[in-house]
Amino acid sequence: LILIIVAVIAAYVIGSLSGSLLLGPLFDQGDLRSSGSGNAGATNALRAGGRAYGLAVLVFDMVKGAVAAGFVPILLHTLGPWPFVCGIMAILGHIYPVFYEFRGGKGAATCIGVLAVLLPGSLVFGAAVWVAVLVASGFVGLATILGMLGVALASFFVPSVPLAGHVFVIVASLLIIYTHRSNIARMRAGNENRFERARIWRR
Ligand code: G3P
Repeated sequence: LILIIVAVIAAYVIGSLSGSLLLGPLFDQGDLRSSGSGNAGATNALRAGGRAYGLAVLVFDMVKGAVAAGFVPILLHTLGPWPFVCGIMAILGHIYPVFYEFRGGKGAATCIGVLAVLLPGSLVFGAAVWVAVLVASGFVGLATILGMLGVALASFFVPSVPLAGHVFVIVASLLIIYTHRSNIARMRAGNENRFERARIWRR
């Protein structure tokens, strides 16, 4: 039981290491929470600081999800459903980071990292949905929400997904929808940020 508690707390602490807030100074960026969409995540890093910053944040936040859900449970011999619990804890850490006044990002990149190690088959399907929606709409937030729902749906068709995996994708989907509520409100109001290049592709 002690090892399980340590693993779950470690996953939350690892998730709390915000890529955008930690790496910001390396890219001459201030607190991302006061620019662009106000979100401490890879999309807003790209928007505010350019490609190198966006990519660095994406990779950092994905790797921490993979470490929390893959490496930590293996190291602490807490397998079975616990890697999925650690995955949720890492995503919660990213959204509510203990080191940053509990105001972090929306959990998408961290969730991708978790899925890459625990449910790679479902991730491939979700990634295809994400790309298709982004190209068609230019909205990253919408692509993320529908991509996550694609992951949840695909998990029913991918063989050998354990019950904990299904519970994980449902909880993660609800979290992603909740954290993207500002994007949903902006889309309804018609002023969501759009990535121009996607709009050009659509023509
Ligand atoms: O995960 C973040 C992305 O889906 C949306 O980011 O900055 O447009 O709210 P943003």
